[in-house]
Amino acid sequence: MASLQDLIAQLRSDFMSELKEASHSKDFESLKVKYLGKKGPIQALMLELKNCPSQERPHLGKVINDIKEEFVLHCERSLERCKAQELDERLKQEWIDVTLPGRRIRKGALHPITQALNHAIEIFVSMGFSVQLGPDVDTEYNNFGGLNFPPDHPARDMLDTFYLSPELLLRTHTSNVQVHTMRYHKPPIRIIAPGRCFRNEDISARSHVFFHQIEGFYIDRHVTFADLLATMDEFLAKLLGKKVHTRYRPSYFPFVEPGLEVDVRCISCNGDGCRICKHTGWLEVLGAGMVHPNVLRMGHIDPEEYSGFAWGMGIERLTMLLNDIKDIRLFTENDTRFLTQFS
Ligand code: DAH
Repeated sequence: MASLQDLIAQLRSDFMSELKEASHSKDFESLKVKYLGKKGPIQALMLELKNCPSQERPHLGKVINDIKEEFVLHCERSLERCKAQELDERLKQEWIDVTLPGRRIRKGALHPITQALNHAIEIFVSMGFSVQLGPDVDTEYNNFGGLNFPPDHPARDMLDTFYLSPELLLRTHTSNVQVHTMRYHKPPIRIIAPGRCFRNEDISARSHVFFHQIEGFYIDRHVTFADLLATMDEFLAKLLGKKVHTRYRPSYFPFVEPGLEVDVRCISCNGDGCRICKHTGWLEVLGAGMVHPNVLRMGHIDPEEYSGFAWGMGIERLTMLLNDIKDIRLFTENDTRFLTQFS
């Protein structure tokens, strides 16, 4: 049975040299399988036992069992050591420096035009106006005819207006909401109508094909020109501060009579003259007027009984004036360097 002892010695030296080579936990696992598995040499020796003389079997069995236990022990210890090392390395790699400053969480914000609209709406609502929304796509009548535009008025021209069909167009102003409101409401009417408008113009630093307006419309008995002035003054003081100075200039719009334009003393130079007010000392902020009797009549409101005023103002222009923005295209370019200045 010397050959069995030799076999075992050989097996041990093979095992030990392979054990030395092993460096990964996977290596030890496969070593275990190779030597101690069902098809391994230890198992083969066990099967050999059958062929040994029976009186030697207990002794040889013990020898084989000892070597088996020895291998198991080696494998397990090495495996444990190796796993601990591997864990150490992984922890080192996955180390987190909790003192590092965190990544900045970017917060979204409302678009400057939305902010300006909301601010103006808030002021008018606090003055007793309610918000009425009109359609962006409307009929030629609601946008022009019902507002006393003569049939040959140049604003109706294809050059200024986006027509979708001979009868339908993209509204050129929020004044269309006046016509809608009179169709569904009887006086007293006190509404504002914020929204988007479209004009067929060349896009430049100062004009765009779409922009926003807020329309105002107030109809009741005994509404006078003084009410219009007081309402505009009150709104502009709430928007721009109590010290604001207003100036009213006669102007023409087909749907009002008299019509006027409202200027405020330049908020940048306080009237001394600067680049923003083009050295006039004044900034034009809105158009307004007393609602034309023809408009009331077409809206089935008796101009003998009722009167009212209306106004419209461009939100982009106002926001540009208030923030010294020189190019209207910035509002639609989605450049976060521009937009984050308003967050
Ligand atoms: N709709 C006019 C425009 O877009 C602005 C305007 C002027 C509206 C006078 C009004 C008004 O209600 O009374 O230029």
